[in-house]
Amino acid sequence: MAASNFFLLTAFIALVATQAMASDPSPLQDFCVADKHSPVRVNGLPCKDAKDVSVDDFFLAANLDKPMDTTKSKAGSNVTLINVMKLAGLNTLSISMARIDYAPKGQNPPHTHPRATEILTVLEGSLYVGFVTSNQANRENKLFTKTLNKGDVFVFPQGLIHFQFNPSYDKPAVAIAALSSQNPGAITIANAVFGSHPPISDDVLAKAFQVDKKAIDWLQAQSNSSINLNMASSNFFLLIPLIALVTTQAMASDPSPLQDFCVADKNSPVRVNGFPCKDAKDVSVDDFFLAANLDKPMDTTKSKAGSNVTLINVMKLAGLNTLGISMARIDYAPKGQNPPHTHPRATEILSVIEGSLYVGFVTSNQANGENKLFTKTLNKGDVFVFPEGLIHFQFNPSYDKPAAAIVALSSQNPGAITIANAVFGSNPPISDDVLAKAFQVDKKALYKKHRPLLVHKQKFHQLNMASSNFFLLTALIALVATQAMASDPSPLQDFCVADRNSPVRVNGFPCKDAKDVNVDDFFLAANLDKPMDTTKSKAGSNVTLINVMKLAGLNTLGISMARIDYAPKGQNPPHTHPRATEILTVLEGTLYVGFVTSNQANGENKLFTKTLNKGDVFVFPQGLIHFQFNPSYDKPAVAIAALSSQNPGAITIANAVFGSNSPISDDVLAKAFQVDKKAVDWLQAQFWENNHN
Ligand SMILES: *[C@@H]1O[C@H](CO)[C@@H](O)[C@H](O)[C@H]1NC(C)=O
Ligand SMILES: *[C@@H]1O[C@H](CO)[C@@H](O)[C@H](O)[C@H]1NC(C)=O
Ligand SMILES: *[C@@H]1O[C@H](CO)[C@@H](O)[C@H](O)[C@H]1NC(C)=O
Ligand SMILES: *[C@@H]1O[C@H](CO)[C@@H](O)[C@H](O)[C@H]1NC(C)=O
Repeated sequence: MAASNFFLLTAFIALVATQAMASDPSPLQDFCVADKHSPVRVNGLPCKDAKDVSVDDFFLAANLDKPMDTTKSKAGSNVTLINVMKLAGLNTLSISMARIDYAPKGQNPPHTHPRATEILTVLEGSLYVGFVTSNQANRENKLFTKTLNKGDVFVFPQGLIHFQFNPSYDKPAVAIAALSSQNPGAITIANAVFGSHPPISDDVLAKAFQVDKKAIDWLQAQSNSSINLNMASSNFFLLIPLIALVTTQAMASDPSPLQDFCVADKNSPVRVNGFPCKDAKDVSVDDFFLAANLDKPMDTTKSKAGSNVTLINVMKLAGLNTLGISMARIDYAPKGQNPPHTHPRATEILSVIEGSLYVGFVTSNQANGENKLFTKTLNKGDVFVFPEGLIHFQFNPSYDKPAAAIVALSSQNPGAITIANAVFGSNPPISDDVLAKAFQVDKKALYKKHRPLLVHKQKFHQLNMASSNFFLLTALIALVATQAMASDPSPLQDFCVADRNSPVRVNGFPCKDAKDVNVDDFFLAANLDKPMDTTKSKAGSNVTLINVMKLAGLNTLGISMARIDYAPKGQNPPHTHPRATEILTVLEGTLYVGFVTSNQANGENKLFTKTLNKGDVFVFPQGLIHFQFNPSYDKPAVAIAALSSQNPGAITIANAVFGSNSPISDDVLAKAFQVDKKAVDWLQAQFWENNHN
């Protein structure tokens, strides 16, 4: 009776829950590390001054490899959640991670996460898991259950009541879960319903649960123990006080769910953002389940990079569709690496399960024109965050021991752009004219001194095929158009003109008092009609970007604009915008432009190129590597571009990879680019200029 009560309780969902709001705000800068000491209250947490940010803001010695004590909990479980309150670097990045320990017969009792979908993999033992739909058209709350073994993966859709139970009489169980919010929240149903303060009237509950009041009073009398359960069973509860303070958020990169779930119908001929939904009548628990073998070491010997990425995204697990999350296991051979790459649509959170990893990421061009490198050596159980769209890598420094990590990504289809492959191994190849200038070497040097860089393009295809399952898995990226909804937050008022003098740091900028706003906040005498000087730039271009830093009225509005001048034979070298799609029109001259897809089904990075004439328009999708080149020997060219973020960021590949401050280890780069360390050292010694104003 008591156990089945949990399921009766779901009737109550209609009254109390908390249905799927959209998730977290999208980042408006590379990162916005939470400033937990600020007295300012905003949606999420205010940002630390970027000057004070260090790699440890993205790192936690979380001991996720260690069994936690389950003996003090009545429920027989212990949830160790790494959310923004514990790991400040997660702020604005829409993801968190947890380890859950279950005693024999222990459970994580029925609960919901108001702001997150959860994806879970079993590390030890078995789990009997389930979730209950909200009221369907037929007024039924359907229960989906499954028994999971080691290495299996399961999805709990956003906002739905779910539980996990360890059926074993004698063996503990352990799971790693990732949640698609920096602060997913947890509402334990028994506690929320029968243990609220003050109690919900027994009149209400008697009717809601269709039992007599005596039964309700009895249940409420258990509430004191429920509260104990609450306090005892889970760290969640220490963390949720802030839920009330930080109100719910509004935008995420993936589409927000508009129903309990929308299981991908991969056989449908209809093409939409993501996948069309299977008929809910045909949905079964196996749509949320995959016997993924994530407990098993994968083969790293066939990969030149010495790694093997097993990604569980929507193409493998149809239940992930519209839910904004995916998971991967990564195996690293001794001295193996996951080479420098970006995910155009996701932030990544990683926990080391075996060995050690040397990891890092590089910021987009900062105000001072610098690409800053943040690195850290991680041990077993440590947790690290790679912010959305930024170039990052992992390297196993050990000469003899393999390493392994479990990661989660804040998209159902994060995409992966391996820099070396996309730049030097695209199909067809990017013109040598473009690459020689972008990498600031002459063509001959590329062919002789640094021959492998361009001559062995073929090699990169092999690396591509060999180095990572990503490439097999991102199959449908081209078909399922990129998901990215607007990256910027939706405005909550007519305008929120950036107050750049405010000492308060938030995601984006705080608003000026509306009384002080005048028309000049929306205006800039930008001289975008005037040719800019391209002679000082090695690349032969000059980008004049009008973003929120220059035009305060853009704050929260999700757009910016640029003029780009190209000298004869000048180029805007291969780069990405971590937070924006770009649309461009040619005002003068001709441009040869292109972008490279993230890895496709066949392991290929496809290059799309076009020669544009005056008046032509071209789109560069969010997060993808792209370039423009003026093929004329004697005429300059000019373009106007608009970008779908108030602060799109720009990661110039050559600069971020070879010119970061401090340099990326030549061990990492030599393997990633398949050249010797001398070539890498030579490249790193070049002056990497920034053509952006
Ligand atoms: C969870 O485990 C940790 C480490 O063993 C322990 O310190 C903590 O008290 C446990 N929490 C609960 C609620 O049992
Ligand atoms: C909870 O416990 C306190 C004291 O331990 C008691 O006064 C109170 O009546 C209890 N609440 C319920 C609902 O039984
Ligand atoms: C990854 O490991 C799996 C299982 O060991 C193996 O079948 C697959 O070929 C490996 N992939 C690569 C790219 O090495
Ligand atoms: C771009 O042009 C402006 C105006 O001509 C000039 O002041 C600036 O130095 C140029 N920037 C670069 C990076 O060449």
